[in-house]
Amino acid sequence: MASYDVIVIGSGPGGYVCAIRCAQLGLKTACVEGRETLGGTCLNVGCIPSKALLHATHMLHEAEHNFSKMGLKGKSPSVDWKQMLAYKQETIETNTKGIEFLFKKNKIDWLKGWGSIPQAGRVKVGDEVHEAKNIVIATGSESSALPGVEVDEKIVVTSTGALELASVPKKMVVIGAGVIGLELGSVYARLGAEVTVVEYLDAITPGMDAEVQKTFQRTLKKQGLSFVMGAAVQGVEVKGKKASVRYKSRKDDSEATLDADAVLVATGRRPFTDGLGLEDLGVALTARGQVKTDAHWATSVRDIYAIGDAIEGPMLAHKAEDEGMAVAEVLAGKAGHVNYGVIPGVIYTHPEVATVGLTEEQLKAEGRAYKAGKFSFMGNGRAKANFAADGFVKILADKTTDRILGAHIIGPMAGDLIHEICVAMEFGAAAQDLAMTCHAHPTYSEAVREAALACGDGAIHS
Ligand code: NAI
Repeated sequence: MASYDVIVIGSGPGGYVCAIRCAQLGLKTACVEGRETLGGTCLNVGCIPSKALLHATHMLHEAEHNFSKMGLKGKSPSVDWKQMLAYKQETIETNTKGIEFLFKKNKIDWLKGWGSIPQAGRVKVGDEVHEAKNIVIATGSESSALPGVEVDEKIVVTSTGALELASVPKKMVVIGAGVIGLELGSVYARLGAEVTVVEYLDAITPGMDAEVQKTFQRTLKKQGLSFVMGAAVQGVEVKGKKASVRYKSRKDDSEATLDADAVLVATGRRPFTDGLGLEDLGVALTARGQVKTDAHWATSVRDIYAIGDAIEGPMLAHKAEDEGMAVAEVLAGKAGHVNYGVIPGVIYTHPEVATVGLTEEQLKAEGRAYKAGKFSFMGNGRAKANFAADGFVKILADKTTDRILGAHIIGPMAGDLIHEICVAMEFGAAAQDLAMTCHAHPTYSEAVREAALACGDGAIHS
């Protein structure tokens, strides 16, 4: 029986980052992973492969729509779907091998197989039982099932099947206008599919700033995506190679159907803890099946911790990574901390959408006096040169103290721009602090400064 200070179950961004930090802090560490490769959903069938397809199809979009405007004439590229999938696969492999290299470098044992916890202090992988002073559950999440919809991962797919459809569908129905639906819907729309998104609510991307939601939906419509809003999908019927999606309007209960060659079910994810033996161990779960943890990620059973999608909070790789590092510090006797108030969220469409902190709707609900500084990318020279002037930066700051409370960006490189504001928020900065910081010209970042200026005496270029 091998003995460890820490065994981490799951090698997604939460688990592998936790294992590396544990090892760096001098703890003897192993990580259990049953997939053929390390990296979990994110690297194998999530963030990384979807970004490869988003990048490739964005290049196609640029070639088809903007090249000739810049004087780049000639034959526009045609799509070799097999090659695009091979490029995606290569991207996955270089990333997952990178994690394997980091495990070797940090002397972390990869226990290959699916793990369970027969008792506190023990982790079983295959026929072998290993001893662990501490166990960290980092088993992630899986796509939620939708009643009346049977997924075959060929015609009716989750995000996993959507990353390797046999061919580009003529018609695609996406169920759910959340992050997955809009990112992968964009990929197929750019490849020429007729994409219709069916959404239960009246706005896309639930929980986001309402102004961003509206601009985002308008932009996606311009890119060819269609939306059926306020409609609850009742079922999907597959006949041969065609599917028919039946939905009911929430307004008047009327029913309608949509035909499709592929249906993407993107109605949320749920924690994945099957087979761990949590019930027998007495590990408490929430009503939504998340592992219950305290402020230090400890579960209800001593020396068992949990992080990432398996616990409460946004299902985001970087939130899991932060928890992974913090719990490692706790296990090493240090003070691990995650500031849940400053966790950015990014949607990697084009334009990108990025958000951090509170929305205007949340501030209004709290009755907090705030000011909003907004700047359109139309006033940003670099964005105009690059055909990327759709969208805006909005910074929300306390009306009296000027402290930044949130930021919402739709526009070019929004996912990168947001971090300047995250750092500012971590330092408790005022909008004026950003406004007084020199920003290089010409950059997209100037739009962030202008939004900060708009919280004070006004932006220069609007
Ligand atoms: P989501 O929770 O973001 O969106 C699901 C949408 O489906 C909601 O708008 C909901 O109203 C709608 N819906 C639910 N039932 C429906 C029905 N019967 N008919 C019509 N619409 C229905 O879930 P999604 O997009 O599946 O993503 C899952 C998780 O993965 C999220 O927590 C997300 O944050 C995360 N993720 C994050 C990414 C990123 O950070 N870029 C990328 C991909 C996933």
